[in-house]
This record gives sequence, structure tokens and C-alpha cells, in this order.
Amino acid sequence: MENLLQGRNLLSLADLTALELQQLLQLGQQMKTGDLLPSAQNRVLGLLFYKASTRTRVSFSVAMYHLGGQVIDLNPQSTQVGRGEPIKDTARVLARYLDVLAIRTFAQSEIETFAAYADIPVINALSDFEHPCQVLGDLLTLKEVFGRLEGLTLAYLGDGNNVAQSLLLGCALAGVNIRVATPSQYQPHHWIVEKAKGLTDREVTVTNDPQTAVEGAQAIYTDVWASMGQENSADARFPMFQPYQVNERLLQSAASEAIVLHCLPAHREEEISEAVLESARSRVWQQAENRMHAQKALLASVLGLV
Ligand code: CP
Ligand code: NVA
Repeated sequence: MENLLQGRNLLSLADLTALELQQLLQLGQQMKTGDLLPSAQNRVLGLLFYKASTRTRVSFSVAMYHLGGQVIDLNPQSTQVGRGEPIKDTARVLARYLDVLAIRTFAQSEIETFAAYADIPVINALSDFEHPCQVLGDLLTLKEVFGRLEGLTLAYLGDGNNVAQSLLLGCALAGVNIRVATPSQYQPHHWIVEKAKGLTDREVTVTNDPQTAVEGAQAIYTDVWASMGQENSADARFPMFQPYQVNERLLQSAASEAIVLHCLPAHREEEISEAVLESARSRVWQQAENRMHAQKALLASVLGLV
């Protein structure tokens, strides 16, 4: 299998073709079974995170350690970029030390600026616009549970946020039908929806109706109603989101084999009920684990180790 991703960035899932995504997921499965473990000895991953993270930070770090590489946590509070050193300067300097850089920040444009100035692979570890690494782990989980992706239906309920936008692109690329149900003023960006529609002949639906979205779906997915940076608007948002809560009543119209996914952290009794999160349908821990396997595949690919 030819590695098509060597030296490439992952800023958006739209950076990948359907074939590249398929290859990454296949590699993720091989990483998980242990059939493949290339060496990243003497390679260094930098993590530059302007927002909190448990899963992404730890799964990227452990993935790099398993590959035999090293990780530097570039806390913005203790580096000059946090004191206003321009991104274009920081990026050119970091690229001379590091082999790959993962960034979590607010504006997608900041990650794009890093990528424009750093001649090493730059990975979007979450922006306000997208969370592509999350969706790599999500698709790996769906593939594991159902043995296929093509033709499955995923319903995402809640805020049309970064996770929803990456799911739209990722599902479209993977041939998964996607339905996104949000309050009208919290729909995903029009550009992303149109882009997703252009990537697939399968269903790409954006609706206000949670019930029809869930109808017959094999995967029900939700995320917090107020993302990092939106905490102050939580009180104004929450009343509008109540009908989108993933609970046992709503799941009655899902497929009998339907699973429940959540990128985590979860807010119980807000976007998801405790009963559903802790139910047999919930695959959230497997999903969180798969972040590590998918990112190991991504690191090995962009570093040219496979
Ligand atoms: N799902 C996810 O990205 O979790 P963290 O914010 O803990 O990294
Ligand atoms: N939408 C959430 C995802 C957290 C992993 C946020 O951006 O806060």
C-alpha cells in the first residue's frame, strides 16, 4: 500500500481523499492489533494546545511513545507564542526542531498559518471549526463495530460545531449517510454541508428534527451544547437544545443494533442522559481508545514511516 500522506498536513478532513481515509483507517486497525508498529525513533512530536485536552493530548503522546518517538508539550503559557511572538516566526523555528506539530486552538486560520510557515506536517488537534482526529477515531470505531462503513447511517444531534463539521466531511468521504439535527441557529457552516454533499452520493441531511434524524440510524452521536470558549453563552443556548438530548425515548426509533457515540467529555443529563451513556449501546470508551490507534496511523503516515 503506497503511503500517500508522507509530509502532508491534516488541517481538515477535506484534506483527504476517500482512498486516503480508507488507507488511514486500515492502518489504524493494523496498529490496534499490533500487526504493524513502525519506528519513529529520533522523531519528535510537538503539542501546542491553547485549550484543555485529556484524550487528544494523552492519545497523541502515547501513540508517539509506542512508535518509539518523543513528545514535547509546548504549553503556550510557557512559550513565547503565548506572549505574542507571531505564529509565522514560531512556526519557522519549531519546524527546525520538530518532525511533526499538533495544534489545538480557537481559529482554524491560526492552524493554517502554522502550516503555511512550518515545513513539517501540521495536524489540527481541534479548532473551533473542525476536529478531524476525533472523526478518524470515530470512523475506526464504526468500522470495528459493524465491519463496514459504506451504507451505515449516523445521526448527530446537538450543536453544529467542530465535531459535527468533521463528521459531515468524514462520513461523506467514507460513504456513511449522515444526518445532523440542530436548532436552526446552530446549524453547521453552509460551506461544510455543501462540501460534504459534493463528496458523496449518500445522504447528507441537516434538519431541526431530532426524531427523523434518528430514524433507523445505526449510530447516534452527540457532543456538548457549549464548546470550549462558548461557556458564557451556555445559559442562553441550553433551552433550545433540550429536544436534542440523546436519551432512551429518542433511541426508540433508532436501528435495533444502534450504538451511541460521544467524543467526550460528556455532560450527563444535558446532551446525553446518564442511562444512555452507561448503557450497553454506548461505545464511548472504545471510541476514546481508538483515538490513539487512529492517530498512531496518522503519525506513521505523515512521518513517512509506512
Ligand atoms: N474528544 C476530545 O478531543 O477530548 P479532549 O478534549 O479531552 O482531548
Ligand atoms: N465541541 C467540543 C469538543 C471537545 C472535544 C469543544 O470544542 O469543546
